[in-house]
Amino acid sequence: MIYKNYPMVSRVVFGRGSFNQLDEILSPKRNGRNAPFIFYVDDVFKGNHWLTSRIILSYKDKIIYVPTKEEPKTSQIDQLVEDIILEYSELPSGIIGIGGGIVMDIAKAVSLMLTNKGESKDYQGWDLIKHPALYHVGIPTISGTGAEVSRTTILTGPERKLGINSDHTPFDQVILDPELTKDVPKDQWFYTGMDCFVHCIESLKGTYLNAFSQSYGEKAYELCKKVFLEDTLSEKEAQDKLMMASWHGGMSIAYSQVGVAHAMSYGLSYLLGIKHGIGNCIVFDHLEDYYPEGVAQFKQMKVKHNIKLPQGICRDLEDYQFDKMIDVALSLEPLWENALGKNWKTLATRQKLLALYKKM
Ligand SMILES: [Fe+2]
Repeated sequence: MIYKNYPMVSRVVFGRGSFNQLDEILSPKRNGRNAPFIFYVDDVFKGNHWLTSRIILSYKDKIIYVPTKEEPKTSQIDQLVEDIILEYSELPSGIIGIGGGIVMDIAKAVSLMLTNKGESKDYQGWDLIKHPALYHVGIPTISGTGAEVSRTTILTGPERKLGINSDHTPFDQVILDPELTKDVPKDQWFYTGMDCFVHCIESLKGTYLNAFSQSYGEKAYELCKKVFLEDTLSEKEAQDKLMMASWHGGMSIAYSQVGVAHAMSYGLSYLLGIKHGIGNCIVFDHLEDYYPEGVAQFKQMKVKHNIKLPQGICRDLEDYQFDKMIDVALSLEPLWENALGKNWKTLATRQKLLALYKKM
């Protein structure tokens, strides 16, 4: 047995208002006036003075607003990298992602691709990155994805949706300021929070479970139940706790794996462009055979927060489209092995997946 030597985020700040320390944190990392800091910021914050006025720009630093209607594509990453190379005479001092999973993943991917030759699609997979990334910082403004702690950056390429998983992917610095999540719309809050809840269930019910992931998974699960099922928390406490649930959920899957909901959600995302959080919810709603207790709690949470999931999204799909989704889902072998064990191939058949997709 070879145990994974897992890289972690090197530094983390936690606290309401800690975002104000950004400049102080970045200053020592500046490599001169021609090496800018590039800030990717979720474009929902465009014109949001409360947040953007606190990003201090010096020399050639730049804020780039990122649309988050769609999840990142490998071609988009390659374009962002080329834009930087063409605009600046030197490599940036660092890349900062301020937003949700999409923006944090973009920051991770760009920081990797500025130091690794070729196209980002060639690095989708496990441990294909050769050189350390540029200094990169993650600042979540919505909680749940675990992108702030993960060793992956999920990209949709020409052939597949798959992460660049590497020891160089995790952030060098994370700033956890729960106050930044205060204006998240309720449906987004729910879908992204449920990403975390699903991480917990898939990790805790998986065959890869070990004491390391269990300790994080149980904590995150407990926090999710407090946030989504109880009425005991103030709004601020709920923001603080969900931010830590996301962190712990991410740590839990880091040392184990996700499962059926994630595998099938990747299929929906690849074919229909359904975003990760809502995709997980749409799939998880139908997984009572795999995760009975978790799905029952999920349904309670849905009712409590009056969330109506889209129905019938696969209704008009053709056979070849179902085939493609099933191909994408089944290609994620570690997820299935974690969920169902070594004999997963006999359990997760194409017919089973087809029947599930047809319900969605
Ligand atoms: Fe996820």
